[in-house]
Amino acid sequence: MSTHARISASVYTSHVPAIGVAMDQGRTAEPYWAPLFAGYAPSRRWMAEHRPDAIVLVYNDHANAFSLDMIPTFALGTADRYEPADEGWGPRAVPPVTGHGELAAHLAQSVIQQDFDLTLINRMTVDHGLTVPLSLLFGEQPVDAPTWPVPVIPLAVNVVQYPVPSGRRCLQLGQAIRRAVESFDQPLNVQVWGTGGMSHQLQGPRAGLINREWDNAFVDRLIADPRGLSELPHLDYVREAGSEGIELVMWLIARGAMGDLAGGPAPRVAHRFYHVPASNTAVGHLILEDA
Ligand code: DHB
Ligand code: FE
Repeated sequence: MSTHARISASVYTSHVPAIGVAMDQGRTAEPYWAPLFAGYAPSRRWMAEHRPDAIVLVYNDHANAFSLDMIPTFALGTADRYEPADEGWGPRAVPPVTGHGELAAHLAQSVIQQDFDLTLINRMTVDHGLTVPLSLLFGEQPVDAPTWPVPVIPLAVNVVQYPVPSGRRCLQLGQAIRRAVESFDQPLNVQVWGTGGMSHQLQGPRAGLINREWDNAFVDRLIADPRGLSELPHLDYVREAGSEGIELVMWLIARGAMGDLAGGPAPRVAHRFYHVPASNTAVGHLILEDA
């Protein structure tokens, strides 16, 4: 019986806001949406069987909680509670997110002492970047649910305003998070989620760009060659996967937290899914179990 926390799995998923709207409006069975939600049915069963004690959820805010006034590169949520953000149409009718103040404080201490200069967030709202992945993995919540089934520690990454962090730095941050989790002296089961992507471009002449081959090759390399993948320059993401395809660097943080990057065996692929379209974008999803 372990006395310390451990990382059991990592989950990767796109966070397209229209997915949240489809769920909130009860439209998931419509022909347009049914194939997408079918791809997450195994994930919801998996989650019911592998429910962690806490999730470190790597995501990006889309100028909702943050603005261009201040732009933290890596920001860790240390609050006990986060309300859904109003993104222009009123907040989503989903429960507030419960944080994990104790583990978050430990992560802040450990990761900053490993020389990552995190910003700390004691109060913020959370936008679709965080709530849509929760909806996809946990499904619709009762209207009166006091919170989501699992406490969440948000880790917000700037992928909105250049310069954004490198893939290499993201992978290293994931490794630091693993060390931090493993030094927390409570026997918690922790998952790390990486969200955003896959290929999408929301504006300009290339709006609607989808690159299936590149997206699927990204996932192949994420599984089998994360170190090599982490060397990919930003320009490749943007050229191949569109301007917002750069959100994919966040997947490398979750991947860095897997045991093989600390010298252990390769993770097991529990589920993999890819679908086009959702709104104007491709949707990618992967679950890795730590060996
Ligand atoms: C859209 C917005 C996002 O933040 C994203 O990651 C994908 C799609 C959208 O507005 O369609
Ligand atoms: Fe996004």
